[in-house]
Amino acid sequence: MLQNLRVFASPAELADAAAGEFYLRARRACDEGRIFTCALSGGSTPLRLYRRMADGDFLARLPAEFWNSVHFFWGDEREVPADHADSNFRMAREALLDRIEIPRENIHRIQTELRPASAAASMYEHALVEFFGLHQGKLPRFDLILLGLGDDGHVASLFPHSEALQDQAHLVASPWVAKFSSFRITLTLPVLNNAACILFLVQGSSKSGILHRVLASAPPYNPLPAQAIRPGSGELLWFVDEAAAADLRSLGYRA
Ligand code: 6PG
Repeated sequence: MLQNLRVFASPAELADAAAGEFYLRARRACDEGRIFTCALSGGSTPLRLYRRMADGDFLARLPAEFWNSVHFFWGDEREVPADHADSNFRMAREALLDRIEIPRENIHRIQTELRPASAAASMYEHALVEFFGLHQGKLPRFDLILLGLGDDGHVASLFPHSEALQDQAHLVASPWVAKFSSFRITLTLPVLNNAACILFLVQGSSKSGILHRVLASAPPYNPLPAQAIRPGSGELLWFVDEAAAADLRSLGYRA
């Protein structure tokens, strides 16, 4: 049985639990006088989570200064303007950021208006170096990184066979993604694997096959991107719903 796997009856319960996990960790940091850094994921799965995080029952329990200590980043972004329908930033802004009292300077979006994508990646990398006070060769350590699981096993915008998967020299990459005929901007594996906690959110029957493939097999010689996520000194949590977990019975999970 996978110790770090939690299965929830529905996407709503998954979102509720993920919101609780976020606030548990962020509140601990706030109470200890520390900042809390969280890299948000994109796609459709986290939308319910972001809306849940902005619900009154969570917000009402927060100390007044809570949001001053929280800083949001993104794990990846599409090469579209910040107000584009496909923007991961726009999705989070509408579902969460516009509904909470967080200082604007605590929101560190990827500036996709910078072209080409490599310029946006370089600027984001510079922002990370500045914010985390990184010396040459050092990695940022996010308190929490949210990740989804693509149906091909991609994470953030690290897709199978992408050269960006081998990038050990940068914090941020801007790979060409053939399946979308576009560039993406993404945190690289060294940054992802340096997180204090990585929380995968996976929902829906369309993900049951890839989730089984990622979790059931030991990482092969050329692992899927999701199998390359192994935080060296951090936690790896999987929050999935029943539909996505349907094929995990071979791992000892029983509905
Ligand atoms: C993106 C995401 C991407 C996403 C997966 C899963 O920019 O699209 O960062 O990595 O998490 O593709 O997407 P869904 O949640 O929509 O299935």
